[in-house]
Amino acid sequence: MMEGMVVKLPTFHFVKPATSTSRRGFRRIYASLSAVKESSVSLGHITRPDFPILHQEVNGSKLVYLDNAATSQKPTVVLKALQKYYEAYNSNVHRGIHYLSAKATDEYELARKKVAAFINASDSSEIVFTRNATEAINLVAYAWGLSNLKPGDEIILTIAEHHSAIVPWQLVAQKTGAILKFVSLNEDEVPDTGKFREILSRKTKLVVAHHVSNVLASVLPIEDIIVWAHEFGAKVLIDACQSVPHMVVDVRSLDADFLVASSHKMCGPTGIGFLFGKSSLLSAMPPFLGGGEMISDVFLDHSTYAEPPSRFEAGTPAIGEAIGLGAAIDYLSEIGMQKIHDYEMALSEYLYDKLSTVPNIRIYGPKPSKNTHRAALCSFNVENIHPTDIATFLDQQHGVAIRSGHHCAQPLHRYLGVSASARASLHFYNTKEDVDDFIQALNDTVSFFNSFK
Ligand SMILES: Cc1ncc(COP(=O)(O)O)c(C=O)c1O
Repeated sequence: MMEGMVVKLPTFHFVKPATSTSRRGFRRIYASLSAVKESSVSLGHITRPDFPILHQEVNGSKLVYLDNAATSQKPTVVLKALQKYYEAYNSNVHRGIHYLSAKATDEYELARKKVAAFINASDSSEIVFTRNATEAINLVAYAWGLSNLKPGDEIILTIAEHHSAIVPWQLVAQKTGAILKFVSLNEDEVPDTGKFREILSRKTKLVVAHHVSNVLASVLPIEDIIVWAHEFGAKVLIDACQSVPHMVVDVRSLDADFLVASSHKMCGPTGIGFLFGKSSLLSAMPPFLGGGEMISDVFLDHSTYAEPPSRFEAGTPAIGEAIGLGAAIDYLSEIGMQKIHDYEMALSEYLYDKLSTVPNIRIYGPKPSKNTHRAALCSFNVENIHPTDIATFLDQQHGVAIRSGHHCAQPLHRYLGVSASARASLHFYNTKEDVDDFIQALNDTVSFFNSFK
């Protein structure tokens, strides 16, 4: 923040939604989505009323929420599912015979089935509920990594991985003597897939790769990477945090071994994420955490363990949150992931083109072209203005929420030669007007800071 800058104190006012779509009209509206496809009513306009949080003023301006890569907003149906669980059938799962417990168990297990269907897993037993994607990666690192890696084995990652997909493997490498190898970026500023192929060998035991980068907006050809890794007998863990909320992801057609995602980025509650693991892999893995729920029999000197997924869900799980995630999946599925993806692709191009017009801006990641599609986010820097100053000014003067910092990707930022960047990230409930408001506010921000030079 520049010295002497006057900042407004935060104020919050709820404003009426711009359109009057009610929950009662939900099904009807989606049924008629295709009819309005060509009209000026975008998916963003149609879905915005489902998100109460978006209809407020922040710091005296209409809120423009562009921090979706960090966490998404939650539609009313998800909030209601949470409330219904706590109001009507709050109870612990799996252990009770009474009505509430049976109902909670049914709903919790139904949520698991919904996740399995959403990513096309063969069976719901291939879905382990975790606290978030980070815990899911740690689960694989400790349960699979510690029992399958030995000195000299190699794990291949990219330098663009989120810290959550790097640090657990550093810890496991320290314990097992395995070696981490990193693929860097090519001249298009995307992880070099040619390099992936080059460094794969019989020593490779695991590939850890993001599907969509939370900084570069690049989309990795994970289907190819999985084929190449399997040729050498290596397993592949896909970090799908930035893809599952935005596109169709099919673990069976990908032939992924492990895949992780977080509910809070896909319109669901915080505190819940999931690990998909092929059943052959999960069944051969020892437990990660010990306690109730994950056992078969407990004796004083040893225990036997439940089958997956229970083996990996020690203690009382996040029941309401899992049910909320199930509601989020219903909501996303009702819109259609392909529809969401198509809309976001168009919005992504719009964002990139508009952002490119801002003076002295540097947008990271690939340039969009006929063959290169970017996810709907842009990380950027503007010459001589700190990204945190940009984000603060946007928030306080314009009510525009973006993120600044290293986005949990310090190695990538170091490679790019910066310590931080600003990032605007969209979801399907954003509109071109949101992008216009952001660009106008950014131009104002840049002018403000440049006026001191
Ligand atoms: C690509 C990627 N991987 C992993 C994570 C970690 O997700 P969580 O903090 O929900 O575990 C994130 C979150 O920002 C992410 O963007």
